[in-house]
Amino acid sequence: MRYRIAQRFLLSNVIVLSLLFILLHYLKKDDLTRRSPKFDILDVPFNHSFSLGTGSPNDSHSSKSKFIIGILSQDSQIELREALRQTWIPLLKKDLPLTVEYTFVLDNPTPATLSELRTKQDIVFLNSSYSGYAVRFGEKMYKWFRYVTEHYPDATLVAKMDDDVFLCVNKMFQRLSNLKHRRLYYGWQHNKEYMQIDEMFVVLGMDLVLRINQRKYCYRERSQCNNKSELVDEGWGGKSIGLWLSVYDDVLTVPDNQNIIYYNRAMKPPIDIRKEDNFCQKYLLYHKATVSDMVFLHNMTTAGETNK
Ligand SMILES: *[C@@H]1O[C@H](CO)[C@@H](O)[C@H](O)[C@H]1NC(C)=O
Ligand SMILES: *[C@@H]1O[C@H](CO)[C@@H](O)[C@H](O)[C@H]1NC(C)=O
Ligand SMILES: *[C@@H]1O[C@H](CO)[C@@H](O)[C@H](O)[C@H]1NC(C)=O
Ligand SMILES: *[C@@H]1O[C@H](CO)[C@@H](O)[C@H](O)[C@H]1NC(C)=O
Ligand SMILES: *[C@@H]1O[C@H](CO)[C@@H](O)[C@H](O)[C@H]1NC(C)=O
Repeated sequence: MRYRIAQRFLLSNVIVLSLLFILLHYLKKDDLTRRSPKFDILDVPFNHSFSLGTGSPNDSHSSKSKFIIGILSQDSQIELREALRQTWIPLLKKDLPLTVEYTFVLDNPTPATLSELRTKQDIVFLNSSYSGYAVRFGEKMYKWFRYVTEHYPDATLVAKMDDDVFLCVNKMFQRLSNLKHRRLYYGWQHNKEYMQIDEMFVVLGMDLVLRINQRKYCYRERSQCNNKSELVDEGWGGKSIGLWLSVYDDVLTVPDNQNIIYYNRAMKPPIDIRKEDNFCQKYLLYHKATVSDMVFLHNMTTAGETNK
């Protein structure tokens, strides 16, 4: 009898201990997965909005939130700038759920771009210290965010995008209006290990912009920079922003790859836009678009709207 009680006691101890081991194992695993990407990655279905609110007591329902877009362009890309000005940019003036303002963002003034500024009134010069493909693009991001902080302190969302992007204006701003959080980090995600939203279209909530703006851009050699306190340049702008945001643990990351068509020089276009019935009914954005792609997509979009 005593022997059987002892046996039971032993058995229950073994069971409790094993349960504890299993629990510890899972806790440890959970801790690891939680720690490696320091981001809350949120899957927000198309029509859904954050239940968290906008995070700002001032974002009242009566006034629309402000969205500022900087379109990074090279001096020579005048044809792309003109294509944007004639296709989706005029649609920003329409009645959208957000008040949207845009500006082209160029490195440094030249006689030609100064004259373009005089006629179009939509260019900001960053006075960049560097030029060249993927050379210290982080500095351009840093200067753009600093410019926005100074000139649009009342913005809620800020974007940096490239001049070879076609935006489906109505759908994109309906989507972003549902996501208008001051700690949002939105766009097309490159990889999960190292959180990085591609710089061809990256949206940040204003609180994140303000935090970045409080740090110093590191002009020294990379190895002599402090990753945590300073803004270290990764060469690419998107990678740099990803690194800068990685020190915060409350960033609301919304990768929207299924609604965005993205490809680059190293990839083939994943779809043929000329075989789509109405691109902007399915998607929010196309990169990378040539001038003729933009004219085609714009024509398709506006034709679709007048048919309705
Ligand atoms: C999604 O939003 C659109 C536009 O506001 C609306 O017409 C549609 O009914 C919504 N769909 C769902 C499933 O809520
Ligand atoms: C809210 O509004 C007040 C008064 O206009 C201003 O002082 C404050 O900085 C605003 N806060 C935010 C987070 O915008
Ligand atoms: C670049 O310099 C010009 C002229 O000094 C100035 O007006 C402009 O605001 C500067 N750009 C930025 C982004 O600070
Ligand atoms: C900064 O980041 C680089 C690259 O990610 C890394 O090699 C380096 O060790 C980091 N430096 C510090 C001080 O964390
Ligand atoms: C625009 O669409 C119309 C039909 O909707 C078509 O006839 C025309 O060729 C298109 N133009 C371009 C530039 O794609």
